[in-house]
Amino acid sequence: MYKAFFGLNSSPFNLSPDPSFFYRSEQHGEALSSLIYGVQSRKGFIVLTGEVGTGKTTMLECLRDHLTAHKTPFAFLFNSRLTPDQFFEMLAYDFDLQCDRRSKTEVLQTLNALLIERANNNQTTVLIVDEAQNLDWAVLEEIRLLGNLENRRGKMLQIILSGQPELGKRLEEPEYRQLKQRIALRCKLKPFDPLEAANYVGSRLTRAGMMNQTVFSLELLTEIHRRTLGIPRLINSVCDNLMLTAFAMESHVATMEMLEEVSRDLHLEWPGGHRHWLEEHGAAN
Ligand SMILES: Nc1ncnc2c1ncn2[C@@H]1O[C@H](COP(=O)(O)OP(=O)(O)O)[C@@H](O)[C@H]1O
Ligand SMILES: [Mg+2]
Repeated sequence: MYKAFFGLNSSPFNLSPDPSFFYRSEQHGEALSSLIYGVQSRKGFIVLTGEVGTGKTTMLECLRDHLTAHKTPFAFLFNSRLTPDQFFEMLAYDFDLQCDRRSKTEVLQTLNALLIERANNNQTTVLIVDEAQNLDWAVLEEIRLLGNLENRRGKMLQIILSGQPELGKRLEEPEYRQLKQRIALRCKLKPFDPLEAANYVGSRLTRAGMMNQTVFSLELLTEIHRRTLGIPRLINSVCDNLMLTAFAMESHVATMEMLEEVSRDLHLEWPGGHRHWLEEHGAAN
Protein backbone atom coordinates (compact mmCIF):
# COMPACT_ATOMS: atom_id res chain seq x y z
CA MET A 1 0.00 0.00 0.00
CA TYR A 2 2.76 2.40 0.97
CA LYS A 3 5.33 0.94 -1.43
CA ALA A 4 5.12 3.65 -4.11
CA PHE A 5 5.07 6.43 -1.50
CA PHE A 6 8.39 5.23 -0.03
CA GLY A 7 9.84 4.22 -3.40
CA LEU A 8 10.02 0.51 -2.51
CA ASN A 9 9.81 -2.35 -4.97
CA SER A 10 8.49 -4.95 -2.52
CA SER A 11 6.92 -5.09 0.93
CA PRO A 12 9.72 -4.84 3.49
CA PHE A 13 7.94 -6.26 6.53
CA ASN A 14 5.99 -9.29 5.35
CA LEU A 15 5.33 -11.92 7.98
CA SER A 16 6.16 -14.82 5.68
CA PRO A 17 9.38 -16.80 6.32
CA ASP A 18 10.98 -15.55 3.09
CA PRO A 19 14.68 -16.55 2.82
CA SER A 20 15.38 -13.73 0.36
CA PHE A 21 14.93 -11.34 3.30
CA PHE A 22 17.16 -13.38 5.61
CA TYR A 23 19.24 -11.12 7.84
CA ARG A 24 22.40 -12.83 9.03
CA SER A 25 22.76 -11.59 12.57
CA GLU A 26 25.71 -13.24 14.24
CA GLN A 27 23.50 -15.80 15.96
CA HIS A 28 21.25 -16.43 12.93
CA GLY A 29 24.35 -16.86 10.77
CA GLU A 30 25.93 -19.24 13.27
CA ALA A 31 22.74 -21.26 13.67
CA LEU A 32 22.37 -21.67 9.91
CA SER A 33 26.03 -22.69 9.56
CA SER A 34 25.55 -25.22 12.38
CA LEU A 35 22.50 -26.72 10.67
CA ILE A 36 24.36 -27.04 7.38
CA TYR A 37 27.46 -28.39 9.09
CA GLY A 38 25.39 -30.88 11.09
CA VAL A 39 23.72 -32.17 7.95
CA GLN A 40 26.93 -32.37 5.91
CA SER A 41 28.88 -34.14 8.60
CA ARG A 42 26.03 -36.63 9.26
CA LYS A 43 25.61 -35.73 12.88
CA GLY A 44 22.18 -37.31 13.17
CA PHE A 45 19.91 -35.31 15.47
CA ILE A 46 19.96 -31.53 15.53
CA VAL A 47 17.61 -29.46 17.67
CA LEU A 48 16.73 -25.81 16.94
CA THR A 49 14.77 -23.93 19.58
CA GLY A 50 13.58 -20.37 20.03
CA GLU A 51 10.60 -18.37 21.22
CA VAL A 52 7.69 -17.75 18.84
CA GLY A 53 8.69 -15.29 16.11
CA THR A 54 12.48 -15.50 16.53
CA GLY A 55 13.07 -16.84 13.00
CA LYS A 56 13.08 -20.65 13.22
CA THR A 57 10.88 -21.28 10.19
CA THR A 58 12.80 -18.68 8.17
CA MET A 59 16.01 -20.48 9.07
CA LEU A 60 14.54 -23.83 7.98
CA GLU A 61 13.49 -22.24 4.68
CA CYS A 62 17.11 -21.11 4.18
CA LEU A 63 18.23 -24.67 4.88
CA ARG A 64 15.62 -25.95 2.42
CA ASP A 65 17.13 -23.67 -0.28
CA HIS A 66 20.59 -24.94 0.56
CA LEU A 67 19.51 -28.59 0.32
CA THR A 68 17.68 -27.97 -2.95
CA ALA A 69 20.76 -26.26 -4.41
CA HIS A 70 22.87 -29.26 -3.36
CA LYS A 71 20.35 -31.78 -4.65
CA THR A 72 19.97 -33.32 -1.20
CA PRO A 73 16.54 -34.94 -0.81
CA PHE A 74 14.58 -33.91 2.25
CA ALA A 75 11.18 -34.21 3.84
CA PHE A 76 9.78 -31.08 5.46
CA LEU A 77 7.04 -31.66 7.98
CA PHE A 78 5.33 -28.59 9.36
CA ASN A 79 2.10 -30.16 10.51
CA SER A 80 3.23 -31.70 13.76
CA ARG A 81 -0.22 -32.86 14.84
CA LEU A 82 0.18 -36.23 13.19
CA THR A 83 -0.46 -39.82 14.15
CA PRO A 84 2.38 -42.26 13.46
CA ASP A 85 0.45 -43.57 10.40
CA GLN A 86 0.05 -40.07 9.00
CA PHE A 87 3.71 -39.41 9.73
CA PHE A 88 4.83 -42.33 7.56
CA GLU A 89 2.42 -41.35 4.83
CA MET A 90 3.79 -37.80 4.75
CA LEU A 91 7.33 -39.09 4.77
CA ALA A 92 6.58 -41.34 1.79
CA TYR A 93 4.94 -38.45 0.01
CA ASP A 94 7.80 -36.00 0.62
CA PHE A 95 10.49 -38.51 -0.40
CA ASP A 96 8.32 -39.62 -3.30
CA LEU A 97 8.64 -43.25 -2.26
CA GLN A 98 7.14 -45.67 -4.76
CA CYS A 99 5.28 -48.06 -2.48
CA ASP A 100 1.99 -48.45 -0.66
CA ARG A 101 2.20 -45.21 1.31
CA ARG A 102 -0.40 -46.40 3.78
CA SER A 103 1.72 -49.34 4.87
CA LYS A 104 4.28 -48.50 7.51
CA THR A 105 6.26 -51.65 6.71
CA GLU A 106 6.50 -50.78 3.02
CA VAL A 107 7.37 -47.16 3.69
CA LEU A 108 10.12 -48.18 6.08
CA GLN A 109 11.53 -50.74 3.63
CA THR A 110 11.52 -48.33 0.72
CA LEU A 111 12.96 -45.51 2.81
CA ASN A 112 15.65 -47.80 4.11
CA ALA A 113 16.63 -48.77 0.56
CA LEU A 114 16.78 -45.10 -0.44
CA LEU A 115 18.94 -44.21 2.55
CA ILE A 116 21.34 -47.08 1.94
CA GLU A 117 21.68 -46.27 -1.73
CA ARG A 118 22.40 -42.64 -0.96
CA ALA A 119 24.80 -43.45 1.86
CA ASN A 120 26.70 -45.82 -0.47
CA ASN A 121 27.09 -42.92 -2.88
CA ASN A 122 28.38 -40.79 -0.03
CA GLN A 123 25.22 -38.68 -0.05
CA THR A 124 22.86 -37.81 2.74
CA THR A 125 19.13 -37.41 3.28
CA VAL A 126 17.35 -35.02 5.61
CA LEU A 127 14.16 -34.89 7.64
CA ILE A 128 13.10 -31.46 8.88
CA VAL A 129 10.29 -31.15 11.43
CA ASP A 130 8.99 -27.70 12.30
CA GLU A 131 6.81 -27.02 15.37
CA ALA A 132 8.21 -30.23 16.82
CA GLN A 133 7.13 -29.24 20.33
CA ASN A 134 3.65 -30.50 19.37
CA LEU A 135 4.68 -33.97 18.22
CA ASP A 136 3.09 -36.95 19.94
CA TRP A 137 5.39 -39.11 21.94
CA ALA A 138 4.65 -42.03 19.59
CA VAL A 139 5.76 -40.01 16.55
CA LEU A 140 8.91 -38.77 18.27
CA GLU A 141 9.69 -42.38 19.09
CA GLU A 142 9.38 -43.36 15.39
CA ILE A 143 11.65 -40.44 14.52
CA ARG A 144 14.17 -41.59 17.10
CA LEU A 145 14.22 -45.05 15.55
CA LEU A 146 14.75 -43.59 12.08
CA GLY A 147 17.67 -41.66 13.52
CA ASN A 148 19.31 -44.93 14.54
CA LEU A 149 19.94 -46.02 10.97
CA GLU A 150 23.63 -45.68 10.28
CA ASN A 151 26.53 -47.07 8.34
CA ARG A 152 30.22 -46.83 9.12
CA ARG A 153 30.43 -43.26 7.79
CA GLY A 154 27.72 -41.87 10.02
CA LYS A 155 23.98 -41.47 10.32
CA MET A 156 22.02 -42.12 7.15
CA LEU A 157 19.19 -39.73 7.95
CA GLN A 158 19.86 -36.28 9.34
CA ILE A 159 16.98 -35.11 11.49
CA ILE A 160 16.28 -31.52 12.43
CA LEU A 161 13.71 -30.91 15.13
CA SER A 162 12.71 -27.28 15.41
CA GLY A 163 10.37 -25.87 17.99
CA GLN A 164 9.50 -23.52 20.79
CA PRO A 165 11.39 -23.74 24.10
CA GLU A 166 8.84 -26.35 25.28
CA LEU A 167 10.61 -28.76 22.94
CA GLY A 168 13.81 -28.38 24.92
CA LYS A 169 11.87 -28.94 28.15
CA ARG A 170 10.14 -32.05 26.81
CA LEU A 171 13.48 -33.55 25.86
CA GLU A 172 14.53 -33.25 29.49
CA GLU A 173 11.71 -35.56 30.60
CA PRO A 174 12.65 -39.15 31.50
CA GLU A 175 10.69 -40.77 28.65
CA TYR A 176 12.78 -38.84 26.11
CA ARG A 177 16.09 -39.85 27.66
CA GLN A 178 17.08 -42.04 24.71
CA LEU A 179 16.34 -39.34 22.19
CA LYS A 180 18.12 -36.70 24.24
CA GLN A 181 21.31 -38.75 24.29
CA ARG A 182 21.33 -38.83 20.50
CA ILE A 183 21.17 -35.09 19.98
CA ALA A 184 24.48 -34.13 18.42
CA LEU A 185 23.91 -30.41 17.98
CA ARG A 186 21.69 -27.81 19.58
CA CYS A 187 21.04 -24.32 18.25
CA LYS A 188 19.06 -21.68 20.04
CA LEU A 189 17.65 -18.46 18.61
CA LYS A 190 17.41 -15.48 20.93
CA PRO A 191 15.63 -12.20 20.27
CA PHE A 192 17.74 -9.43 18.70
CA ASP A 193 19.75 -6.99 20.81
CA PRO A 194 19.16 -3.27 20.09
CA LEU A 195 21.94 -3.00 17.49
CA GLU A 196 20.84 -6.17 15.68
CA ALA A 197 17.24 -4.93 15.65
CA ALA A 198 18.29 -1.65 14.02
CA ASN A 199 20.43 -3.48 11.46
CA TYR A 200 17.61 -5.93 10.84
CA VAL A 201 15.16 -3.15 9.98
CA GLY A 202 17.79 -1.53 7.74
CA SER A 203 18.52 -4.84 6.02
CA ARG A 204 14.86 -5.55 5.23
CA LEU A 205 14.38 -2.03 3.85
CA THR A 206 17.50 -2.33 1.71
CA ARG A 207 16.20 -5.58 0.27
CA ALA A 208 12.88 -3.91 -0.48
CA GLY A 209 14.69 -1.20 -2.43
CA MET A 210 15.51 1.54 0.11
CA MET A 211 19.20 2.02 0.76
CA ASN A 212 20.25 3.83 3.96
CA GLN A 213 16.77 4.18 5.35
CA THR A 214 15.73 7.45 7.00
CA VAL A 215 12.19 6.44 8.01
CA PHE A 216 13.19 5.24 11.48
CA SER A 217 15.58 7.27 13.62
CA LEU A 218 18.03 5.43 15.86
CA GLU A 219 16.13 6.69 18.89
CA LEU A 220 12.87 5.30 17.52
CA LEU A 221 14.53 1.99 16.65
CA THR A 222 15.79 1.69 20.22
CA GLU A 223 12.25 2.19 21.48
CA ILE A 224 10.87 -0.30 18.91
CA HIS A 225 13.39 -2.83 20.17
CA ARG A 226 12.32 -2.25 23.76
CA ARG A 227 8.62 -2.61 23.00
CA THR A 228 8.97 -5.70 20.79
CA LEU A 229 11.48 -7.34 23.14
CA GLY A 230 13.67 -7.75 20.05
CA ILE A 231 11.41 -10.40 18.50
CA PRO A 232 11.64 -10.23 14.69
CA ARG A 233 7.98 -11.01 14.03
CA LEU A 234 6.84 -8.20 16.33
CA ILE A 235 9.42 -5.81 14.86
CA ASN A 236 7.92 -6.56 11.42
CA SER A 237 4.37 -5.86 12.60
CA VAL A 238 5.36 -2.63 14.31
CA CYS A 239 7.45 -1.33 11.40
CA ASP A 240 4.80 -2.27 8.85
CA ASN A 241 2.15 -0.42 10.84
CA LEU A 242 4.43 2.56 11.37
CA MET A 243 5.07 2.88 7.64
CA LEU A 244 1.36 2.62 6.96
CA THR A 245 0.62 5.31 9.53
CA ALA A 246 3.35 7.57 8.16
CA PHE A 247 2.01 7.07 4.65
CA ALA A 248 -1.53 7.95 5.80
CA MET A 249 -0.13 11.16 7.29
CA GLU A 250 1.97 11.84 4.19
CA SER A 251 5.14 11.79 6.23
CA HIS A 252 8.39 10.12 5.17
CA VAL A 253 9.48 9.61 8.75
CA ALA A 254 7.92 7.61 11.58
CA THR A 255 7.62 9.35 14.95
CA MET A 256 7.34 8.43 18.62
CA GLU A 257 3.66 9.51 18.58
CA MET A 258 2.99 7.08 15.75
CA LEU A 259 4.74 4.35 17.75
CA GLU A 260 2.46 5.09 20.72
CA GLU A 261 -0.59 4.64 18.51
CA VAL A 262 0.73 1.47 16.85
CA SER A 263 1.70 -0.04 20.23
CA ARG A 264 -1.86 0.52 21.43
CA ASP A 265 -3.39 -0.92 18.25
CA LEU A 266 -1.19 -4.01 18.43
CA HIS A 267 -1.70 -4.41 22.20
CA LEU A 268 2.04 -4.52 22.72
CA GLU A 269 3.19 -5.27 26.22
CA TRP A 270 6.71 -4.68 27.42
CA PRO A 271 8.46 -4.32 30.78
CA GLY A 272 7.85 -0.85 32.11
CA GLY A 273 5.11 -0.31 29.50
CA HIS A 274 1.78 1.28 30.34
CA ARG A 275 -0.09 -2.00 30.76
CA HIS A 276 2.53 -3.32 33.15
CA TRP A 277 2.47 -0.07 35.05
CA LEU A 278 -1.29 -0.43 35.49
CA GLU A 279 -0.93 -4.02 36.63
CA GLU A 280 1.81 -3.18 39.08
CA HIS A 281 -0.05 -0.22 40.53
CA GLY A 282 -3.39 -1.99 40.59
CA ALA A 283 -5.21 0.83 38.79
CA ALA A 284 -8.70 0.14 37.43
CA ASN A 285 -9.01 -0.88 33.72
N1 LIG B 1 17.06 -13.54 10.57
C1 LIG B 1 15.95 -13.10 9.99
N2 LIG B 1 16.01 -12.45 8.81
C2 LIG B 1 14.90 -12.01 8.20
N3 LIG B 1 13.68 -12.12 8.70
C3 LIG B 1 13.56 -12.75 9.87
C4 LIG B 1 14.67 -13.28 10.58
N4 LIG B 1 14.23 -13.84 11.73
C5 LIG B 1 12.90 -13.70 11.72
N5 LIG B 1 12.48 -13.03 10.62
C6 LIG B 1 11.10 -12.64 10.28
O1 LIG B 1 10.34 -12.67 11.47
C7 LIG B 1 9.08 -13.29 11.24
C8 LIG B 1 8.94 -14.50 12.13
O2 LIG B 1 9.90 -15.47 11.76
P1 LIG B 1 9.57 -17.04 11.78
O3 LIG B 1 10.69 -17.70 11.06
O4 LIG B 1 8.20 -17.29 11.28
O5 LIG B 1 9.67 -17.31 13.34
P2 LIG B 1 9.35 -18.63 14.16
O6 LIG B 1 9.25 -19.77 13.19
O7 LIG B 1 10.50 -18.76 15.10
O8 LIG B 1 8.07 -18.38 14.90
C9 LIG B 1 9.01 -13.60 9.75
O9 LIG B 1 8.37 -12.53 9.12
C10 LIG B 1 10.46 -13.62 9.32
O10 LIG B 1 10.57 -13.21 8.01
MG1 LIG C 1 7.67 -21.05 12.82
